[in-house]
Amino acid sequence: MVDDIIRTDSMKVDRPTRTFIQSQIYYIKLIYKKHPILFLFFIFFTALSSLISPMTLYLNKETVDILTSFATTNESSQMTWLMILLCCTYILGFLSSYFKEFNEYTFQKIMYSVSYVMKLLLFSKLLQLSIERFEDSSFHDKLKLAQLSLNSGVRVVQTLINLIGVVFSIFGIIGVLLTFHWSLPMTLLLSTLPGITIMFIVKLKGYKAENKASQFEREMYFTEGLFSQKSALKEIKIYNTQQYLMGKWKKLFNTVTELRLKVARWDLRYKSLSLIVLQGAQFGVSLYLVSLVVGAQLSIGSYVALLSSSVMIQGLFGQIGMHMSSLFETAVYNNALLSLIQDAHDDRNDGTYQIRRIESIEMKNVYFSYPNSDVSVLKDISLKIKRGDKISIVGRNGSGKTTLAYCLLGLYRLNAGKLTVNGLDISLLNMESYYNRIAVVFQDFIRYKYSIRENIAFGNLEYLENDKEIYKILDRIELKNKVMDYPGKLETILSKEFMNGTELSGGEWQRIALGRALIKNADVVILDEPTAALDPISELKIFELFHKLYSDKTTISISHRIGPTRLSDLIIVMDDGRIVEQGTFDELMNMRGYYYNMYEAQGKWYKANAVDYPVII
Ligand SMILES: Nc1ncnc2c1ncn2[C@@H]1O[C@H](COP(=O)(O)OP(=O)(O)O)[C@@H](O)[C@H]1O
Ligand SMILES: [Mg+2]
Repeated sequence: MVDDIIRTDSMKVDRPTRTFIQSQIYYIKLIYKKHPILFLFFIFFTALSSLISPMTLYLNKETVDILTSFATTNESSQMTWLMILLCCTYILGFLSSYFKEFNEYTFQKIMYSVSYVMKLLLFSKLLQLSIERFEDSSFHDKLKLAQLSLNSGVRVVQTLINLIGVVFSIFGIIGVLLTFHWSLPMTLLLSTLPGITIMFIVKLKGYKAENKASQFEREMYFTEGLFSQKSALKEIKIYNTQQYLMGKWKKLFNTVTELRLKVARWDLRYKSLSLIVLQGAQFGVSLYLVSLVVGAQLSIGSYVALLSSSVMIQGLFGQIGMHMSSLFETAVYNNALLSLIQDAHDDRNDGTYQIRRIESIEMKNVYFSYPNSDVSVLKDISLKIKRGDKISIVGRNGSGKTTLAYCLLGLYRLNAGKLTVNGLDISLLNMESYYNRIAVVFQDFIRYKYSIRENIAFGNLEYLENDKEIYKILDRIELKNKVMDYPGKLETILSKEFMNGTELSGGEWQRIALGRALIKNADVVILDEPTAALDPISELKIFELFHKLYSDKTTISISHRIGPTRLSDLIIVMDDGRIVEQGTFDELMNMRGYYYNMYEAQGKWYKANAVDYPVII
């Protein structure tokens, strides 16, 4: 089903013109809905601006004609007319600049609110998609493109309207020239088109080369970013990769520079060519026009107007090229964004049955492989968790423990087998009610760069303003005293990137995560082993705290170390996606099988490090 959606989406992207038009319509409708008056103003002023070039042209011609006749007749009435013309020319010049500024401001205002709406739509969509979607690399590609469009996507509408304005201007100029002499528009096109065509081709090629450079540029920016990130610098120092990374950066920088210069050189060559063609054609046209002027078929004003109009037309065509390339570039991003937002598929496969209390969770012959992967990560898993059980899942790294937790949560669909909660198939459940009753400390839990208050209360937002409850939790996770010592108390931000922020150790963060789960007051709590590579002793302490905190709950604790398993009643041993043994500690030890061997291997470590762990066995 998910695959179907992704396939239809990419089909849509394959028809760029259709989606391009659709996205224009979408944005125009959106802008119109949000800012009808501003948008109309924008169009109106763009239309007015487009008339300015032809009007200036007309004024210039008239001015020159009056000036030439003035030299011979010296009529004073013409002087007034001349003044009016000059004033008009300057007013037009001012208006042209003003309209441009005004339009830019108007559009910024439009842009902010459209970007707000688009972000809102995208984020709500992302929050609602199933985790499975994020396993798909083509989804991520699309998402990256969509994010590029979030801030400036609406510019396509501005560009399109400007483009239409430019075309209007060109027609306006042609129209004005036509009133001077029938042959002028043709001579204008003859003199400018060949050169402009060459320029266009150059631009197109340059755009492609630019794309190539930008790939290297992205890699260069990523590398540059590493040099200013604390997390990256730590690793760079430890692994001694400074020299290598510097070398890599130099190479990238030089490659980017080389590619850009190549484009520039090439641009220069072809631009020179197009200029020769342009000038040559204009030379021919000038000769023709001079002959018209000499034959009194054309006024000097018209002659001058035509020359200046060819400069105008070149500028306008240049703008068309610029607008077109930005239009197509942004359109690709916008299509990605719209196809994400408009994707009607609702991933929530919610049933209606409300879970009030989790009595049991059961898996029967479950098989699972991650989306877009053939490898079975869980194989024939059957287990039953009853209210009050204390279960440990133990197994090597990669044996499928975390995946099993994900599947118990119903985050992924199973390939085969059954998952039931309180005896009901997971598909019948209202997932929100299930999630309300289950808490998880994920291996990669979120370290919010927010206040301590929020970091705890995100487990249960009802308590966000309840200082007493939050302090109670902090006390239980043994962080209260520490927090009391911070000047900002509960408002202290957990990152030094912020004023008065602080940083916690791996173990302290892990306790925050436990607190977040604790405040939720769920029926079942899952603790996945800390990946932040806590040493075995700190890890053991976390597991001990976990069991102390949740002594009255159903608990599932996951670890690849046997130490923590001693704290549970039922131990499930996993290897290569299968449950290979399960039982109490004594039962497993008596089996002298997989668990026993693990114990023999790891137990030595605890003994050698004189941890009292073997004693509690
Ligand atoms: N998102 C994923 N897509 C594909 N394979 C995955 C994904 N996550 C984990 N795996 C694979 O599934 C197997 C089990 O992983 P995991 O459940 O994380 O193991 P454990 O928690 O026991 O260390 C591993 O072989 C891992 O490579
Ligand atoms: Mg894991």
